Amino acid sequence: MTKMIAANWKMYKTAEEASDMLNSLAPLIRNVTCDILVFAPFTALHTTVPALKNIPCAQAGAQDVYPAHQGAFTGEISPDMLLAAGCSWVLTGHSERRHILGESPEFVGQKTAFSLASGLNVMLCIGETLAERDNGQLSTVLEQQLREGLRDVPPDIDASRLCIAYEPVWAIGTGKTASDADILAAHAEVRRLLIALRGSSASNLRILYGGSVKPDNAKRILPLDNVDGLLIGGSSLQAESFAAIIQCAQSLARN
Ligand code: PGA
Repeated sequence: MTKMIAANWKMYKTAEEASDMLNSLAPLIRNVTCDILVFAPFTALHTTVPALKNIPCAQAGAQDVYPAHQGAFTGEISPDMLLAAGCSWVLTGHSERRHILGESPEFVGQKTAFSLASGLNVMLCIGETLAERDNGQLSTVLEQQLREGLRDVPPDIDASRLCIAYEPVWAIGTGKTASDADILAAHAEVRRLLIALRGSSASNLRILYGGSVKPDNAKRILPLDNVDGLLIGGSSLQAESFAAIIQCAQSLARN
């Protein structure tokens, strides 16, 4: 499976800062063949989308979506609007939306299914808090987030249109990366749950790791079993660090 390297810019970057960053990134990653995604803020999509055209295998995504085509939903953005803005992907279930904005697993599931049905590709994020991990609830939490998140997704969905990002909440933006053993165990569990919930075709779904990924640790995380890519926050904001991570994925593809 080609590795996927995704940037989650969160609430960083104006439209101009987004295009400046991508214009600096492009010459650093010429000839790469791994898939690259940039989840930009809504207000930077109109500069992100054209700037990504200069980068091979790169696509733009949004960080959130509302599950309706249009309507009286003040402040919300529909999948149709995102597609028209040039996005092909959207994030659902990011832990900051679950825990800061209070999104339920059911609502994440509605967003996921509606976006896919509308033509967007979806990266569904899942992950446990430290308290849940310490209480031995890792598997239960992942199972619930996957079950609700994928509840109305058709079983025959094209595996290139959906991926899962496993991000332990305690490792996001904290500088604490999960150990190799933690990542291996959690990704194997996500794979097992996906196959149990959705059948053997789920062995083709990509599972990305996220949580304090940096150029240094990307080298050891990317080759691990069932790690099909990375979702990167802080280190995706500067061209140099994001390019270094992309180059790690590229060198693995060559070996
Ligand atoms: P981080 O963020 O790389 O800054 O930990 C990852 C994410 O939230 O997707």
